[in-house]
Amino acid sequence: MDKLKKADAYIEKNKLSSKELPEFHVAPQIGWINDPNGFSYYNGKAHLFYQFHPYGKEWGPMHWGHCVSSDLIKWEYCPVALAPDMDYDVDGCFSGSAIATDKGHMLVYTGVSHEEINGERQEFQNQCIALGDGKSYKKIEKNPVITGDMMPENFSREHFRDPKVWKEDDGYYLVAGNKTSDGKPHVVLFYSENMYDWKYVSVLAEDNTGKYGTMWECPDFFELDKRHVLIASPQDMCADEEFHNGNNSVCFIGDYDRKQHKFNYDEVYALDDGIDFYAPQTTLTPDGRRVMIGWMQSWDSNIRPEGQKWSSMMILPRELKVKDGKILQSPVREIENYHRNGVRYEKQEVEGTCRFDGIKGRVLDMTVEIAGGDFREFTISVAQNEQFHTDFSILQHKNRIEIDRTYSGMVRDANAIRRIKVKSPCKKWKLRIILDKYSMEVFLNDGQQVFSTTFYTSLEADQISFVCDGKAIVNLEKYDIVVA
Ligand code: FRU
Repeated sequence: MDKLKKADAYIEKNKLSSKELPEFHVAPQIGWINDPNGFSYYNGKAHLFYQFHPYGKEWGPMHWGHCVSSDLIKWEYCPVALAPDMDYDVDGCFSGSAIATDKGHMLVYTGVSHEEINGERQEFQNQCIALGDGKSYKKIEKNPVITGDMMPENFSREHFRDPKVWKEDDGYYLVAGNKTSDGKPHVVLFYSENMYDWKYVSVLAEDNTGKYGTMWECPDFFELDKRHVLIASPQDMCADEEFHNGNNSVCFIGDYDRKQHKFNYDEVYALDDGIDFYAPQTTLTPDGRRVMIGWMQSWDSNIRPEGQKWSSMMILPRELKVKDGKILQSPVREIENYHRNGVRYEKQEVEGTCRFDGIKGRVLDMTVEIAGGDFREFTISVAQNEQFHTDFSILQHKNRIEIDRTYSGMVRDANAIRRIKVKSPCKKWKLRIILDKYSMEVFLNDGQQVFSTTFYTSLEADQISFVCDGKAIVNLEKYDIVVA
């Protein structure tokens, strides 16, 4: 049986019921997923592909899973789009992107293969194309369309992946992650008139400071609010005030010198300050919004419980904006169409520990405004019962946010606490909290910072409490999200 049919048959036989999965966050029907791929619009629908290993709960030979949506909230699974079945991608169909063309829906991905050279097994990563109709995809004869030897000699052929393609007036452009032989990360730019014949153009952006890791995975590059933005996910970073250790997802804001094909950045931010976030990718919606989706996990933080047969999920898509040189993120507005059972409280005093009638649940959208009062620490504790809780705290006296999932059922000694500075210090706080069974995404002060975190506890742990060491005056608004 061919590998695509085999994967589809396996999924059909083993897929989990939707009850076992998050309500509106994309997760695998069975098996493992990582990066979002090919986030694009084609024939009026949003298409999302993802790095997918259906046969196990851990990363394995990479396929591309596929789902579609009319509103970025309700997703429908489609047959598997790509399987590692050619000599140029036999060791994996790694991450990439998609674009609507007059020839059809085109997927651009990294084909991984190995060759024995002078007795050593060497990995090669090359860029490949598959053409489809939004349902099934066929790899083209000419693959791979971009190979490492099209670049200068001291650029890695082994770390050359994750193509993101877009169209400009004069043709198609594509960026990919790469590094030099002495370990400096950069993003390389290619050009094609027709999507089939490509040529190397330039190093679009690089790091000469040594601060931003060793390899930039999953680059994305676009214009937003009259600036240009490069998103990349660097490996092997050291923590500082802005970033945590290990893999980060970084947003570079700057200007694009189109003549030199060079992006010069002046602002550099972490895109998410929670525990679980990596490899985001954006698309432009038909109504002109730049929307980002990402993997709600990262490489060093797999905390899935042993018995669970699916591994990890995507974030809720977010709308991006640039304002005063900073990136702002908000949940896609379509989520509001699924608001039910609104509950509202105004000017409530929180002193010590408080709960409010009707403020509970594991699938919801809640806004908490702290309009006044005097305190050092304010905590919102969610997914709570006698045994479990996950906490989001404002440490006002330290100008820090703390996320603590120590008591959320983890049986591995993985990262449970993240403490991060508040980028725009303030006295009034607005927190929008999205829960979907096993995850919490917190948008602070209209999306100046976002914190994504997962926790895999029993859904009976559904209480929410507010804890203040002084006095806080709060307004609350909470909706259940009902998608079915
Ligand atoms: C990022 C990444 C990509 C690669 C893919 C493999 O998470 O390492 O660079 O294409 O995952 O699954």
